[in-house]
Amino acid sequence: MNLTPNISFTEPATKFGLISTKPALMSELLFESIRKYIYEITGIYFQDNKKYFLESRLHRRMNFLGLKRYDEYFDLIKRGDDSTDEKQYLIEAITINETFFFRNQPQLDVLASQIFPETITALASKNRTKIRIWSAACSSGEEAYSIAMIFQDLIKPRYPQIELEIVGTDINGAVIETANSGIFKDYSVRNTPPYYLKKYFKSKNGSYEILPEIKQMVNFKVHNLYDDSSMKTMYNFDVIFCANVLIYFDAASKTKVIANLYNSLNKGGCLFIGYSETLHGISKAFKLLSFPNTVGYKKE
Ligand SMILES: C[S@@+](CC[C@H](N)C(=O)[O-])C[C@H]1O[C@@H](n2cnc3c(N)ncnc32)[C@H](O)[C@@H]1O
Repeated sequence: MNLTPNISFTEPATKFGLISTKPALMSELLFESIRKYIYEITGIYFQDNKKYFLESRLHRRMNFLGLKRYDEYFDLIKRGDDSTDEKQYLIEAITINETFFFRNQPQLDVLASQIFPETITALASKNRTKIRIWSAACSSGEEAYSIAMIFQDLIKPRYPQIELEIVGTDINGAVIETANSGIFKDYSVRNTPPYYLKKYFKSKNGSYEILPEIKQMVNFKVHNLYDDSSMKTMYNFDVIFCANVLIYFDAASKTKVIANLYNSLNKGGCLFIGYSETLHGISKAFKLLSFPNTVGYKKE
């Protein structure tokens, strides 16, 4: 995991502010308090060597607000004044939202060749015609839309009676706004097979807009994986993708989130996590499924 910020001194002013050349200093004591606060609300754990990352991300926001000291900023967050919604800006400032279309091709291949057909067979015995998939911690939605394209292209023609409902969630409201817009830059589509790019996007002024037939299959909302009561509202999923977020959690927050994801899955459902992530030492509840170049975790 690379948490080193990519700071450009020519960055335009945003709600996170310009980077000033002279960063403020965060005391060790304050670092402890802020990382504990962040951990308690998100499950994200900043290790000691990530202090610089946290300083620079918060400093950008403080510049924008005209604050000089980290303790002033922390007081503002803790005051919890709804009119400033500073907690949400804090989350936007500290999360890493790297994602792109067709990021994990082996998982998408398995979804198309095995998971969808098996789920459809299982649905028939329950008189169901709708598959439900959750793209958890989806950032700006590229994974959710990739799944929708795969279904529309490879599954729908074979099983026209089957519907797919995808829910995409993330703790960061700004990325959910982008997901909802369905409009993406070159960077997001860099790994998209040309066939899909041509078939399911409208290209306009250097941007790529998802076509309505794909967009209507996905619903996005802000949701915190670390919040037990919000997790209780997410259930009855046949497949869950929760990729490249566990790496930001510690063992305790991973264990809690995975236990809740287990409850969100239907019996026989499957969980996919990131390429570099594992449930080893985190959960024994799932059956490990081995596929070519990827693994899945089944709820039996
Ligand atoms: C690196 S992105 C991964 C995006 C996508 N899943 C993928 O694999 O391409 C990690 C995402 O996790 C989100 N995240 C971090 N903590 C979260 C939490 N407690 N609940 C929900 N989302 C969270 C971040 O906002 C960020 O968008």
